[in-house]
This record gives sequence, C-alpha cells and structure tokens, in this order.
Amino acid sequence: MNRREFVALVGVGGAMACAPEILGTATDQEMTPAQAADGFVKVTGITLKELEAKGSFLDKKSPVGSLLLIWEKNTKKISAVNPTCTHEGCTVKWNTGAQILACPCHPGKFTATGVVTNKPPKRNLSTYQVKVEKDVIFVKKA
Ligand code: FES
Repeated sequence: MNRREFVALVGVGGAMACAPEILGTATDQEMTPAQAADGFVKVTGITLKELEAKGSFLDKKSPVGSLLLIWEKNTKKISAVNPTCTHEGCTVKWNTGAQILACPCHPGKFTATGVVTNKPPKRNLSTYQVKVEKDVIFVKKA
C-alpha cells in the first residue's frame, strides 16, 4: 500500500466514523424538547401573568432567535418581534408609557407589531407567531 492509498483509506474510514455523530446532531436540532409538533417553541423565563405585569420580556438567545415579547395593555394582546433594529442592528426597547418600540441609537420607532413609524429604518421588524396555553407562551417564526 502506497501513501496515497493509505490516506484515501483512512479518509473514508474517518468520514464513516463521524457519520453517526453528524446525523445525530442534525436530528437533535430538528426538534428540541420544548418544540411542539406544530413548530411552536415554549418561551422559558416568563409566564403570561408575569408578562402582563412587566410589559415586555427580552431573550436574545431564544431557540427561535432574538425575541422580544410585548404586552399591549390597550389591546390586551401579546406581540413578538425580533428586536434587532433594521437600520443598523441596535436592540429596540419597549416603551410601556408611549406603547412604542424605540431604538436607542437613532430616532427609529416601531409599533408593537414591528411596523416602522419613524425613520431611519426602512424595513419593519421581523415577527413571530404567538400562542398561549393556560399561562404558558409559545412562539414560532412567522
Ligand atoms: S439602529 Fe435603530 S434607528 Fe438606527
């Protein structure tokens, strides 16, 4: 066996040895324990009652992506947006008194559902679908 044949044999064997590991990882990422069959993911760290009291909840590392939950006290509804500003990427914050999302970096403003109301941002925030079961909040990419 020459050097080229040896490298080819070890290379194929190494790839075969890694295959179950790679397949196992991909399968694990397809459905986490918190993900329901309908694709919704349970929000951990806050309940509906807590959100109603607090007004908003930020989880930059949620399984669906950066997530900001908003309790709109006027409509008594929950909105879920990606809080990454579409202008230059700052994290927008919920202003409970004014009932708007405001960017801390520039005058950008959005409605609770992520619609631009004040420039410079030109695009709306991306949003998530929301559902509530009892006191538990679930989100899903829209
Ligand atoms: S980064 Fe938000 S308005 Fe500029």
